[in-house]
Amino acid sequence: DQAAPAQVTATGCPFSAPGRAQAGEYLTTATGTRVRDTDHSLKAGRRGPTLLQDHHLREKITHFDHERIPERVVHARGAAAHGVFTAYGTAGKLTTAGFLAKDVETPVFVRFSTVLGSRGSADTVRDTRGFAVKFYTDEGNFDLVGNNIPVFFIQDGIKFPDVIHAGKPHPDREIPQAQSAHDTFWDFVSLHTEAQHHTMWNMSDRGIPASYRTMEGFGVHTFRLTGPDGSTSLVKFHWKPAAGAHSQVWEEAQLTQGNDPDFHRRDLSDAIEAGAFPEWELGVQVMPDTEDEMFEGIDLLDPTKLVPEELCPVQPIGKMVLNANPTNYFAETEQVAFHPGHLVPGIDVTNDPLLQGRLFSYIDTQLTRLGGPNFDQLPINRPHTEVNDNLRDGYGQQAVHTGMAPYRPNSIDAGNPLPTPTDERPFIEVPTKVEGEKVRANPVTFEDHFSQTRLFYRSLSPVEQEHVASAYTFELGKCFETPIRERQLAHLAAIDADLAKTVATGLGMEVPAPTTTDVTDMAPSPALAQIKPGVTY
Ligand code: HEM
Repeated sequence: DQAAPAQVTATGCPFSAPGRAQAGEYLTTATGTRVRDTDHSLKAGRRGPTLLQDHHLREKITHFDHERIPERVVHARGAAAHGVFTAYGTAGKLTTAGFLAKDVETPVFVRFSTVLGSRGSADTVRDTRGFAVKFYTDEGNFDLVGNNIPVFFIQDGIKFPDVIHAGKPHPDREIPQAQSAHDTFWDFVSLHTEAQHHTMWNMSDRGIPASYRTMEGFGVHTFRLTGPDGSTSLVKFHWKPAAGAHSQVWEEAQLTQGNDPDFHRRDLSDAIEAGAFPEWELGVQVMPDTEDEMFEGIDLLDPTKLVPEELCPVQPIGKMVLNANPTNYFAETEQVAFHPGHLVPGIDVTNDPLLQGRLFSYIDTQLTRLGGPNFDQLPINRPHTEVNDNLRDGYGQQAVHTGMAPYRPNSIDAGNPLPTPTDERPFIEVPTKVEGEKVRANPVTFEDHFSQTRLFYRSLSPVEQEHVASAYTFELGKCFETPIRERQLAHLAAIDADLAKTVATGLGMEVPAPTTTDVTDMAPSPALAQIKPGVTY
């Protein structure tokens, strides 16, 4: 029931609609000619050879040969579901976004994924999970393209190819890091100490969720909201599962990988089919939009940092229920195209350099993955609102545009859509002030890489800390380069001396001295310093 974009004009022929029924009385070719025999190719005599002339043979095989599209360069393995988001209206003062007004119901499509494995890899590996939500709002699509871990490996989008190359399977034998040498992954995270915080979350139980239904989701970056009075605030988005956050233990994860590589996708679709609809609450941490974009000593543009909930509670703004499985994996789960730049009025991005890199990357990769520039016309990507873009032609164009080519301003074509006046709710970027010299450098506030890593580790219960130590011992045990192990152990010593000792002992290595670089954490703000070990956030 997805509304077709207004630009798609019907040709008047009921059978030329893109969604073919693949039913009906007689088999036909793609161009509608009835087929007499689809089991025998056309041959010169019963013993052949086969004739080039056989159009049905060539059409059938050619189409089959092109059935697959490239898998996603990351997050290739995923499962998805349809659902509905209902807003509480509690964000009404924060943002003008219409879908967040009280009791508004918005259809959603959600895709969960692992990051590094290929499309056919197992579900319960140790990895970050994607948590991407497409809201089909009345004001256009809003995509919240998040993960199940609140921070990211890197602070700048320019390093994304590096971290992914270091983590993906080795190029010679295409064996995933999880089963062979881990040298490149540990080389990267020990050389880029900003990756230590995300890595600690991966080594914790969060890296092996029990189910997609029991994962938290995080927008990670800070976003900027504009309220009805024009005031702005800085927010972080959180999804809290109604069933609570749960993980597997390592032995369980290994068993499920072997027994049922589809464990998570089966669990999600079975639950929905049985009517046990998974639920999440969407919440926001709201921080004042100050000139320095800092909150309690935390740089809100640094995606390797979170804001502890003790300092800024998550306030609920709506509820999401997943209530229907996809009908066709390829058409929906595979062809869906998320993009952090799909925004609606009232929600804007910030200058987080990782988010800025993402704004370029998604559409760029989708041009290849989805075969040209018209993937927004695919049924799963179509907004549930009118589309009056001036885009033309290109591979996969479904519309039959009539009249003159569109351009603006235009004194000839009175029908060409006008730019939207301010009071008719166009998307307007928040006019934040920008000035500075062109530099390739980070703010100095990005330099502390260990204090939140330590804060996270010390917030865990003793049994969770044991799991972290076992995970580091197991994973570093697969790193064959001694200098890399030593470097990573020295970072652990800078994070927590006891953790470093347990891991070093487990590896049969000497307990290292803490790294001298990067141990000078930023002086914590008084509020941050008050957070006690053992507190969960
Ligand atoms: C998927 C790039 C950081 C969450 C992807 C894809 C690319 C990509 C190219 C495949 C998209 C497709 O083929 O449709 C990047 C870059 C990043 C980055 C360049 C950093 C500069 C992040 C971060 C998050 C994230 C920080 C979470 C906050 C996701 C998710 C998907 C995805 C959930 C899967 C979307 C789906 O299910 O289709 N990313 N990513 N990425 N990324 Fe990122």
